[in-house]
Amino acid sequence: MCGIMGYVGPQQAAPILLDGLRRLEYRGYDSAGVAVTNGDIDVRKAEGKIDRLADLLNSSPLVGTIGIGHTRWATHGEPSDVNAHPHTDPSGEFVVVHNGIIENFQSLREELEDLGHGFMSETDTEILAHLVAREYDGDLRAAVRAAVAKAEGAYALVVMTKREPGKIVAVRRISPLIVGLGDGETFLASDIPAVLHRTRDFLIVEDGELVVVTEDGAQIEKIEGGVIDREVMHVDWDAEQAEKGGFEHFMLKEIHEQPAVVTETLAGRLDEYGNAWLEDVKFDDEFARDFDELWITACGTAYHAGLVGKEIFRRLLRIPTNVEYAHEMRYNDPLISAKSLTVAISQSGETADTLAAARLAKERGSRLLALTNVVGSTLSREADDILYTRAGPEISVASTKAYLAMLIAQYLLALRIGRVRGVVDEDLAGRVAHGLSQLPAQVEELLHQESEISAAAEAIVDADDVYFIGRGLDYAVAMEGSLKLKEISYLHSEAMPAGELKHGTLALITEGTPVIVVLTQQALYDKTISAVQEVKARGGKVIAVAYEDDDQIHKFAHRVLRVPRADDLLGPVAAVVPLQLLAYHVARLRGHDIDQPRNLAKSVTVE
Ligand code: AGP
Repeated sequence: MCGIMGYVGPQQAAPILLDGLRRLEYRGYDSAGVAVTNGDIDVRKAEGKIDRLADLLNSSPLVGTIGIGHTRWATHGEPSDVNAHPHTDPSGEFVVVHNGIIENFQSLREELEDLGHGFMSETDTEILAHLVAREYDGDLRAAVRAAVAKAEGAYALVVMTKREPGKIVAVRRISPLIVGLGDGETFLASDIPAVLHRTRDFLIVEDGELVVVTEDGAQIEKIEGGVIDREVMHVDWDAEQAEKGGFEHFMLKEIHEQPAVVTETLAGRLDEYGNAWLEDVKFDDEFARDFDELWITACGTAYHAGLVGKEIFRRLLRIPTNVEYAHEMRYNDPLISAKSLTVAISQSGETADTLAAARLAKERGSRLLALTNVVGSTLSREADDILYTRAGPEISVASTKAYLAMLIAQYLLALRIGRVRGVVDEDLAGRVAHGLSQLPAQVEELLHQESEISAAAEAIVDADDVYFIGRGLDYAVAMEGSLKLKEISYLHSEAMPAGELKHGTLALITEGTPVIVVLTQQALYDKTISAVQEVKARGGKVIAVAYEDDDQIHKFAHRVLRVPRADDLLGPVAAVVPLQLLAYHVARLRGHDIDQPRNLAKSVTVE
């Protein structure tokens, strides 16, 4: 996720911007840059680590006391010097940095090209510099307003012009933005840690607001106009807490980022009728119509996302779909058809086993689609098509937001293929699109049930073993819930299809054994309840994840974690959130290092 810095005050801006960007490094980035005004606008930017930018600034310093800076995490266009921010308009009088995605970037770019504009980079950001310059008529604030009225999406935009020195104008549309209030100087940043050592007084810019920053402070307004009287927030957090956005752990922060992640993953890719545009999925309609089998390969949480994907593709596309652990697939001589599509799923895009299985699929003639979170990762470089999940950097070893984004991306892929193959009609596509559009709000709602989840955590914290059951898509979610619990709480847990319990594992269910049942699949509800009855009859302690309007479940379960009603096909998205939180709270009660669990690495780059 990109980092933003801005400074207006009496000191030289470049060192302050550079320092702020270093403090935002934890957000992840692939290039960095700064721009300073001093009569003219000067820009320095470089692909790679901030040290490269620092070297550039040493050899070619920037002089000026007003500036903006940026660390970029690529979305449109590969990581490179040219694509790094800041970007200027053709006259070089306006300069912008931006975080997030401009959804209608392609059509805006084409409109501007028709008007004779040429572009240096592949980014959506450069378009904003052109737009602001075109709209400028003596008032930067008005020009920014007019530009953002045209730019759809979830983003934060920061603009500076030599025509109005001493001022930075910024807008927040979902992507975060804060103002740090100093003594005769003002800071702007995407996150508090960037400037926490310089001030403890902040103004939080909210979604839909514009801010004008000068050395005397900041004025916040609605984007459409109207000044807002924002209370100053005094922050007592230390730097480490600030990086976590005030959350105790990155995992919790990342769980709470999920509503925004769902929005980002969908941004600009889906209309209300269920038509999906996936910018780096290059296969043509002929391929989408003709391929005859789908392979999904991945490890760990990404594999569990693939299990959900298998069911989505099976239900929506009716294409034979295999999902294989990559470490198995690479050695089991898979019978991959040359007319197949292989989807390799990996948050990092660097998992050695997944890369090996993906290469094998390619060797056998399959078309390879990388479903990954990291732009420019090895997997994305080797694939024919790429579907970026846009979850932003995930720091906690236990994957949460990346998993959710993998699910969303697979719904999009299924819609894209299903519409072309004619197997997903308008009605169904519209229904899925509607369900997906509800998800950010539904996931948000789930994050406010922490007290019920803490109570459920208390109920299982001392168990020796925990079992997770479900059927169909609920089984896939149960697998992920179980993995989350074991990797951070070190509690033994196992997931299985609910119908499998009576074939052996039931022997282990005794008085008080926790069994967590996922119950979003209405068609299989009664069947799953039969397994719950078997558990209850042996004294098992049942914790259910069930829809909010399920008025039967309290008869069978000791505790119920409620999720908003959704279409069965979309049930897994909401159902996994309470399980992530449950694992988190159990691990916390057990006093473990949640973000860095023992023996585990974030990215498994060895076999
Ligand atoms: C999940 O919480 C784990 N960190 C792990 O299972 C992970 O999903 C797996 O190693 C695959 O990683 P990848 O998505 O980066 O390929």
